[in-house]
Amino acid sequence: MKNNHPARMGHPHASATTSSSPPIYQSTAFDVPDLDVLEKLYSGKLHGDIYTRDSNPNHRALAECIASLEGAESGAVFASGMGALGSIFLTLASAGDNVILAQAIYGKTMQLAHRMQRFGITVSTFDATKPEELKTLISEKTRFVLIETVSNPLLEVADIEAIAGMLPPEIPLVVDSTFTTPELIRPCQLGASIVMHSASKYLNGHGDVMLGVAAGSERLMKRLNSTASVFGQNANPFESWLCQRGLKTLPLRMSQTCQTTLQLVSSLAGHPGVRKIHHPSMPDHPAFTTAQRLYPRGTGGIFVIELAGEGKASVNAFMQAASSIPFAATLADARTTLSHPASTSHRFMSPAARAAIGIRDEMVRISVGLEPFELLEGELSAALNVIAKR
Ligand SMILES: Cc1ncc(COP(=O)(O)O)c(C=O)c1O
Repeated sequence: MKNNHPARMGHPHASATTSSSPPIYQSTAFDVPDLDVLEKLYSGKLHGDIYTRDSNPNHRALAECIASLEGAESGAVFASGMGALGSIFLTLASAGDNVILAQAIYGKTMQLAHRMQRFGITVSTFDATKPEELKTLISEKTRFVLIETVSNPLLEVADIEAIAGMLPPEIPLVVDSTFTTPELIRPCQLGASIVMHSASKYLNGHGDVMLGVAAGSERLMKRLNSTASVFGQNANPFESWLCQRGLKTLPLRMSQTCQTTLQLVSSLAGHPGVRKIHHPSMPDHPAFTTAQRLYPRGTGGIFVIELAGEGKASVNAFMQAASSIPFAATLADARTTLSHPASTSHRFMSPAARAAIGIRDEMVRISVGLEPFELLEGELSAALNVIAKR
């Protein structure tokens, strides 16, 4: 039995009081008694904080917690998931370098990579379900490979170990585990050098925080933290504290959402309002076998309903009929939410480019929250009845 349960973590080591909940260090800077102490703080001989853009007890508590949950040496926190990814790009790649990205990846991550081209960084893409494609892409210019554990939104499952096995030791594998969390998979145990998350999602789990985290070796985390400080991608203490609080219930939330998702997927699959359900537990999903092997506890709480109707009009009809389930451009809230990848995360792509990676206008992404299965099943099937009758 693991003794690093998140419910027991996050209490800064020294505290002026015995408060049962950790304090929030809402402070821009930390007083330093003299230059000797300042030198020791900067050189790392003394542990402590100087300026919150560089470090803060709430950041350190959360970073330690993530590192422990991921089984990594060290952790780092950022203003958002994109802040974490931005810091990774800016730390690991320079002009003339190349980065390799999974082709099915969160839309903003794709945009970030393409903006890096302005700084002379080239971007290649590969199918993360076919690790052997890397053979022809890796060159002496490749600085890192970036994949998602389970991709947003089509839930392709990457075989992390096989991908890591294709890379020479000097090329780090960076894994975005936002959809899966350390409850379901721990990429650093499978050969990844860095695991990162949008902590705005499951790690916090309550839809009220913007935050990113990463874990890996101490050397890499120090470099990411230093970039984040220079480029202002640092987190703030209150959001780190909120995420620390949310993490305490991560095991319960992940187990509940995985179970409800499996029930919903199997009960809605044959509905006449559904053309197809995209979820790795469906035998016709391309990731079915890999998911059974890598994710015995489930792949999280996201699935996609491809509606039986045509185009965005059917999505509008579905949203209006399912009005008790809010539409929100996020996922992993405690409440169930709907989203439309073609209009949100992947809206910057042309319809043809979306079609090429399998994203259709009729796809609605469902993020299953903590409500009971019976309630959600009733609401979703009633809304699908409206689609079936159109
Ligand atoms: C898989 C994935 N990675 C990264 C991000 C970016 O995170 P944030 O919104 O916290 O910047 C998101 C956001 O939805 C995401 O889904």
